[in-house]
Amino acid sequence: MIVMGVETSCDETSVSLVEDGKRVLANEVLSQIDIHKEYGGVVPEIASREHVKGIVFVFDQAMKKANINYKDIDLIAVTAGPGLIGSLLIGINAAKVISLNYGIPIIGIQHIAGHIYANNIEHDMEFPLLALVVSGGHTELVLMESHYDFQKLGETQDDAVGEAYDKVARILGLPYPGGPQVDKLAQQGKDTFSFPRPMLDSGDFNFSFSGLKSKVINTYHNLNQRKATISTPDFCRSFQEAVTDVLVKKTNDAMNLHNVKQVIVAGGVAANQGLREKMRQTITDVPVYFPSIKYCTDNAAMIAVAGYFKYKKEQKADDYLLNGFSRLELK
Ligand code: KG4
Ligand code: ZN
Repeated sequence: MIVMGVETSCDETSVSLVEDGKRVLANEVLSQIDIHKEYGGVVPEIASREHVKGIVFVFDQAMKKANINYKDIDLIAVTAGPGLIGSLLIGINAAKVISLNYGIPIIGIQHIAGHIYANNIEHDMEFPLLALVVSGGHTELVLMESHYDFQKLGETQDDAVGEAYDKVARILGLPYPGGPQVDKLAQQGKDTFSFPRPMLDSGDFNFSFSGLKSKVINTYHNLNQRKATISTPDFCRSFQEAVTDVLVKKTNDAMNLHNVKQVIVAGGVAANQGLREKMRQTITDVPVYFPSIKYCTDNAAMIAVAGYFKYKKEQKADDYLLNGFSRLELK
């Protein structure tokens, strides 16, 4: 079964072709990062316009790369939310055009489900499993007992991890998106600032990162006012250690409680080297899997994989009333 994936929820225009929820025939990603960099973050109206400009080209590139015809496609899976509404609608409408033109069924996919399913490309998902979702907009622990069955164990009460990374990076004057920059610098630093580990022993699986973010930002301003020399690598390392300590401990606790067969990490922050190392060192009872970097950040291959498993389970597609939603629960 060949599934075409379409992802335009934020600042990446992406189209993929994936066979049987696993074999990636094409995964074309047109990134807008260089455009939004100038503004220090994603500008929604600009993002929509860039999707319009790029999407036909990305469809063409994906079809060429996969070397197939539209009539070979069995299903189109498109991100329906959450995301920037203008951006989502470009992908959804483009997907509808192809669906209508070639008579291919279409299915809407929740973006976080896509991030989780990115893991199936390189390692078969085995149930029950625990997924730690860490992206620019989400931080949550999800238990899955079978395909397309998501039980949220806990989530952030305020900022998402990626959001905290981006804000800390901004204060340090690092370019957007800040997460990868902080990660890189952290590799060269030491944990000298001893930042708090929020909700480490809260006894549940919820998170909170806004207090830590404020503490980090205030510390930076105070030191700056006193004209103290700040080691950016040490600063980044200290922030990263605080964040990853909490993420890894809660994941480990949830793993012990639920007796899972594997732990998977999903979302842009799954690319973080510090998180990868600490997870692998701490969780040794069951395998811990991370998608390779290109499947961690937004891409359409993950949407096609999720579409394959959703369609297989529900045996039904959406109709042309399929819409985009800026907020959409994981389902
Ligand atoms: O999943 P994603 O591509 O988009 C959303 O669905 O949000 O995640 C983007 C987020 C950004 O906040 C970015 O800074 C962060 O993931 N990120 C990282 C790393 N690579 C991307 N954060 C920490 N370390 C990284 N290496
Ligand atoms: Zn994402």
